[in-house]
Order: sequence, then C-alpha cells, then structure tokens
Amino acid sequence: MDTTVLFRLKDIPFDINDPDGLMYMLDHDFGGCVVFAFSNLIDETRTGKVFVDGKEWRYILKKDTNLAAAFHKEAIYLLGVKLSGYIIEYGQKAIVCAEGFYDINGSPVQKTEFVVAAKEDKAPEKKYENHDAIALQAAQEGIVLLKNENNVLPLTSDAVLNIFGGAFHSFRNSAVGAGKINARCIKNLRESILKFSDFSLNKELDEFYKDLSNLIPSEEMLLRAKEKNDLGIVVISRASGENIDNTAEKGSFYLTDDEEKLIEKVSKVFSQTVVIVNSGYPIDVRFAEKYQVDGLIYCGFCGMFGGKALVQILDGRVNPSGKLPDTWAKDLSDIPADKNFFKISRYNVLDGNANVWIDSVYEEGIYVGYRYFATFGVKPAYPFGYGLSYTKFSIRCQSFSYDGKSVKLTVTVKNIGQKAGKCVVQFYVSKPDTTVEKPKIELVEFEKTTELQCGEEQTLNIDIPNRFLTYYDEKKAAYVLDNGEYVLYLGEDSQTLCKIGGFFIEEALVDKQVKNRMLPVYRINELSKYEPENSYPKGKKTGIKEDVIAIEPKAKREFVLVRCQTSEKISAIADNMTKEQLARFVICSSDGWGMENIGGAGVVYPVDGLNIPEYVVADGNSGVNIQKPNIGFPSGVSICASFNKDLAEEIGRVIGEEADENDIKLILAPGMNIHRHPLCGRQPEYFSEDPYLAGKMAGYYVCGLEKTGVASCIKHCLANNTETARKRNQSIMSERTLREIYFKPFEIAMSICQPTSMMTSYNALNGCATSADPEMINGLFREECGFNGFVMTDWGTYDTVNVVDMLKAGNNWIAPGSNDDTFTKLVLQGLREGELDENVLRESAKFILNAVLK
Ligand code: BGC
Repeated sequence: MDTTVLFRLKDIPFDINDPDGLMYMLDHDFGGCVVFAFSNLIDETRTGKVFVDGKEWRYILKKDTNLAAAFHKEAIYLLGVKLSGYIIEYGQKAIVCAEGFYDINGSPVQKTEFVVAAKEDKAPEKKYENHDAIALQAAQEGIVLLKNENNVLPLTSDAVLNIFGGAFHSFRNSAVGAGKINARCIKNLRESILKFSDFSLNKELDEFYKDLSNLIPSEEMLLRAKEKNDLGIVVISRASGENIDNTAEKGSFYLTDDEEKLIEKVSKVFSQTVVIVNSGYPIDVRFAEKYQVDGLIYCGFCGMFGGKALVQILDGRVNPSGKLPDTWAKDLSDIPADKNFFKISRYNVLDGNANVWIDSVYEEGIYVGYRYFATFGVKPAYPFGYGLSYTKFSIRCQSFSYDGKSVKLTVTVKNIGQKAGKCVVQFYVSKPDTTVEKPKIELVEFEKTTELQCGEEQTLNIDIPNRFLTYYDEKKAAYVLDNGEYVLYLGEDSQTLCKIGGFFIEEALVDKQVKNRMLPVYRINELSKYEPENSYPKGKKTGIKEDVIAIEPKAKREFVLVRCQTSEKISAIADNMTKEQLARFVICSSDGWGMENIGGAGVVYPVDGLNIPEYVVADGNSGVNIQKPNIGFPSGVSICASFNKDLAEEIGRVIGEEADENDIKLILAPGMNIHRHPLCGRQPEYFSEDPYLAGKMAGYYVCGLEKTGVASCIKHCLANNTETARKRNQSIMSERTLREIYFKPFEIAMSICQPTSMMTSYNALNGCATSADPEMINGLFREECGFNGFVMTDWGTYDTVNVVDMLKAGNNWIAPGSNDDTFTKLVLQGLREGELDENVLRESAKFILNAVLK
C-alpha cells in the first residue's frame, strides 16, 4: 500500500466572493471550506490537528463516496477547513497545516503544509463595458423593495452605515452548482460601499463581523454606532443550489436565534432599521412586522454587480423597480404544497444508488403561489408581483375591447412622484367557474415602462389572446374558453387590483384540441375552493416507497416516431451512418464538469468521417459556467424579478456573445421549472411560481441567446420540484395541473422562441421517468409545441433510468456519457436485441446534427 498523502482537492483559487465554495453542492457542511483529500482511508479514531497561520483550527473529516470514483476508489476521506470569514481580502494568503493523521494501516500521514491564496481583485475591463452595463442593469432591476416606512430609504448619500451580521462579509451573488457564475470581477456589497458611494462604513462593526457571526456587539459599541448614525442595517443571507433542498429549520427558512436576537436588538437601539435579505429563496420575514423594521430589501443572488446595484438603491441613485416573482408566505404551513414537499434530511441525499423511490403527490393541484393565497383569502407576508418604488405612478386604462379573439387594452402610466422610475403594470383575469373551478385571478400579461421622469407619461398597448384565457378541460382534452363572465384587472401587484373591464362568453369554445397524455396512475384528490377543509392536502401518499421493484414508475406510454425536419444534406449524413457511428453519436463524451474540470459540461463526440466541429456545451443560467472568468448575471429568480422582457432578451444575448467568444456552442439554460415550494434547492435558478411570467421571461432569454447563434436548452422538463431526492422522485399530478402550471411555462417560452435543445429532468412524472417518456418528449413538446430541436438527458440520469429506454422514448443525447464504450455498448446491445429501433436512433442523430452543423 502506498504512503498516504494529503492533497488539495481542486487547486482553484479561494474566492472571497464565493462564501460557499464548490463542495457546498455535494455537502452543505463543506460550505466555505477549502477541501483536501487523503490518498488512502484514514483512521477516524486517531484525530489529527489542523492549524491555520499557526492557530489550531476546527476541521471537518468525512468519508465520501461521491467523489471517490474520480480517483478510482470506493471511498476517500475529505478534510474541510473553513476559511471563509478568515480570508476576506483579495489576495490574502493563509498557511494551512495538517498533522497527526493516521491511515487505516496505522501509518502516519506526513505533516503537510498548503498555502491558500485568495483570488486577486479585478477591475471591470473596458472591452466588456456594454456587457457589464447589462449585468448592472439586471442587478438593479432584480432588487425588490418590500418595506419602506416613513421613507427610510433612500438613505442620506454620505451617511455612516452601521452594518450588522456576518452575512455582510459573506454576501452572496450566485447560486451553487449549475447556477454558479465565474465572473471576471465581483463588486460585493462591502467593496461597493467603500468604492462606489459616498457612504462610509462603521469600521468597528465591520471588524466585529469579520468572523461571520451574528452576535450582538457590546452596549458601548452599539452606543458609539448610534452616535454616528441612528440607523442600523442588518444583512441576512442564505445559500441555495442544486442537489440539496433547503430546510424548514432555523438557519434556512427560519432565522437562527442569533439572527432574530440581532434584528430585535438593532431595532430597539436604533430609531430606524433596515434589513437586507440576500437569499436564493423566500424566507420567514415575519420579523419585519414583529420588530417593526422600517426598511426591507430583497436582494437575491444579483450577480457580479449585485453589491454595486444595492448601494445605488440604498443611496437613491437608482429607483427600485423589481417585483416579487413569488408569493412570500408568512410560514411554510401556509403553503398547500408543503404537506407534499418531501422533506428529507440534507445528510440523507438520495442519489441514484438509493434503493427507494419517493412519491410527491401534488394535492394542491393548480393552487400554486398566489393562485392559492388570492383564492383562499390567506394573507401572505408579501404578495406575488409586489415591490415598492421611490416614486408613485398613476395607471389608467384608456380603452378596453374584446373581439372574440383577444382583449385589447390601452393603458397610460404617469409618474406622479418626485423621482424618475420604471413601473411594472400587471394584468390579471378572473375566469368564470362554469365548468370547473378556477383560481380567483391569473396573470395574463405584464409590461414595464421605460424610465419615466417626473410628470412623464407612457402608453402601453396590450393584447391578450384567447389562449391565455382558457383552462384545461380534462374531459374534452382541450384548452377551452369557458362560458360565463371574464373580468380583467390591472395593478402594480397581485393584491391591489383595479377592475378595468370584462366580457361575456355565451357558449364555451375549444381554443386548442389536444389529447390527454401522461395521466397519473391514480386519481388525485385535489384542493378545491368549494370544499377547502375536506380537500386541503394531507400528504398521506407522499413519501418513500420501500419496495422499489414494485413501485418503480413504469406506466404504459404511447410512442409515435416524430421525424426531424431537416435538410437533405443532414438526412443524407444520418442515413449513411453505421450502427456503431450512431451509437457513438448519441452518447455525449464528457470527461468532467464545468468550472472545476474541463471547462464545459459536455461535448458532442466527433465521430470519425463526419466532420463534426468541436461542440462543447456549458451551464450558464447567469453566465458561462467555464474555467475562464466571464459575465456574471443575477440568478433566474432575480432576472425574473425585473419583469422586464427586453432585459431578459439582452441577458440572453450577452451570455450568448460571451459563450461564442469562448467557443461554447450551447448553453444549458434557462432552467425554468415552477417554484412550487420555496425550499426547492433550485429556487434561485428557476424563474417564478407563475407559468406566464416564467414562460415569457425565459422565452425572451432564449430569444436573445439564440439570436447570437449560440444554442439554448430549456430545462428541466418536467416537474423537477425537489432536489434532495431528485433522481428518486416521482411527481404525481392531474393532467390539468400539469398543463396549466408545470408544462405551461415551457409551452409559452417555445411559442416566443424555439430553443435548439431541451433537457429532460431526473424525476419521474405520473408513472414514467421524464427522460424515458415518449408522450412528454414527442407528444407534448414535439407534436404540440412544434419543437424540432434535440432532447438531452440531465447529467447522469442513467444512474436511475435505463439508457435504451431513454433513447427508445425519443431522448436524443445521453449526457455526460463517456469517451469509452461504457454506454455505446449498451446502445449496440439494444440494437442487436431488437429493443431499440435503428430508425429511432437515426432520427436522434438528425436532431443532433441539425444543431451541430447549423
Ligand atoms: C444539473 C443540470 C446541469 C448539468 C450539467 C446537472 O447536475 O441538474 O442543470 O445542466 O448538471 O452541469
């Protein structure tokens, strides 16, 4: 056995603007840690010591099986040393020393020293001035002002800022995992205050919170702060990302005791208090009322210029115009989906090897987000669409008509306040309940004005076609315009609405005939407004099904071969491909992942003789997820909070241009699943709880990206609403819920711009893995939405779903695959044994070639 050595897991520079680090995605305990690995197994009973700059340090020692494969081992020991909070300056170095560890053979591990150096600061580059300007605008418009009592904000521009809370030093600007950014430079909150404003910092507090605690400073320190400025600012932050859901615990949805005590104390000591929530998902904000804080700002993960934008809002150079893309509930128990949101311990992530399957039953049906709160009269902390401005607008509907095909409106918006600003106008419909019940209101359009100067007015011409006024009728298998009265409302949020007109439909009419697909295996008792108590979700059927063999979803699905619309040239290439070539082509040939490794997430195999150009795909909801630093936008939910369609298109364009510059041909974005429950780990990457808003914003993003010639990929189709068990979850819902809520954003996005590709999700839906569901791939997407791009699996779906089953169902590209024959031999075997039809494979090749040879 070789001598055991300790090595640094990935020699990526420590980044003071990345308080969570790459390993957080796999294990939250490693958040903020620099991670080392031992070459052999370690004797856990003989604990060694770790020193940082000579001081003994706490560390995390864990056996890991996830990363072990990369080292051709079954398990390795990881050593995590938390340096975030200690290394807080650009370029700062720390010496980490480990000694006294023994391997399982009793041999000592040599004392080892590492120098950990933080990334240097980078100034924005002139060359990217225009791109950076869009990133700054996205951050500005993505910030939402939730409370502003007595106009506490904006602050006096040369005020001394008393900032409390460790989160000030661990301000987050991106999600973890696929939603991460690798930005050229980051202007965090602290640096932006010091460099880009006339504010000054209370240095004593700044120093006090460098250890990232949320402790209350001494009474003397508080008094000194109060003398400088009788206003306190508290920063609360939460990480979020793929693979692990957030929890219904203190420190996640709820405040920790320290955070709560801190807000309470600051609000008692200072005449005015402002709280900044820097989180990827909604949290419990009842503290705002309880401690009567004056100002509350939601600043999600706002990208490379998040800090700068926030400072400009604090000092009033920018007028906030963001709106909440989600309802912020007072408590989790107010959310009907909570009963069926499978909460599993983060220490028990169910990966592909788990021998269980989980059912998540969507008993809340169509009542997601404000559809529930508005219909059932439950008061949220902050409603969907909510966000304040430093000015006031008067919105008037000048004309209203319905011609049987669409509602046409003319609306004027006038800035009647004292500051220039942008206004978001939201349009909602209330549909008749004649055939089946409907939510009280549904968003059918939104528009954002340009920046209006004081007294300035803008006219908006709105057209809302019938298809957004329909409901899904399961009996008719059609989108139907019900008979009865339709009422339209407008407002600046979903709670303060004003009626603007209505019309009557005498006879119900079918707007689009489809067929029921992917029906659930059993009938679901869905929440009904007519019987709220009886029908309120009980969550009895949600949970782990131990007998995986019996429960594994395998409903019968209909397969229809949908042919690729392509040129003769591409058809000819595919028609001449041998079986071996086909088998090789449909398997991605990746060798690593994203920023950590090869710089891209996957690559199309350059099959001999086909002249396939290098085709690398990379993640990139908010930038290009590769090793070379590039642009860094806000995450999906904050992009969406802008309610600005043109901006969404610009963001897509900039990401496309930067991808092109780095030879990335396809961006694995936008992620656009519905926010069903705030604790889903991917909440920040996805857009909204509302399908119309999510679909429109994502559609324009796709448009911007595709126009640059770089391909987009909408994901994760469909109903990926939980992360901790993402490869082991089966979502179960009615066809109506599927069509009105979960499929809808994808359908809308595709109607705005067809993406080059789409990614199936890890989960199963109504009895079949989405990656192997022909009715979803060929039925919903190809037949109904006219999708002619290529379909890929999510990374490593083959851990739980058979490769041949996925290809058979019309999934075209298996990712990340490999360079050897691990997967190709399965495909060839499928062909040999007649399990897989060669024509299906050939069609897959055409779909991929269409994109690759574009
Ligand atoms: C994520 C995808 C991502 C892929 C490639 C998966 O783990 O779910 O969203 O695109 O990895 O990085």
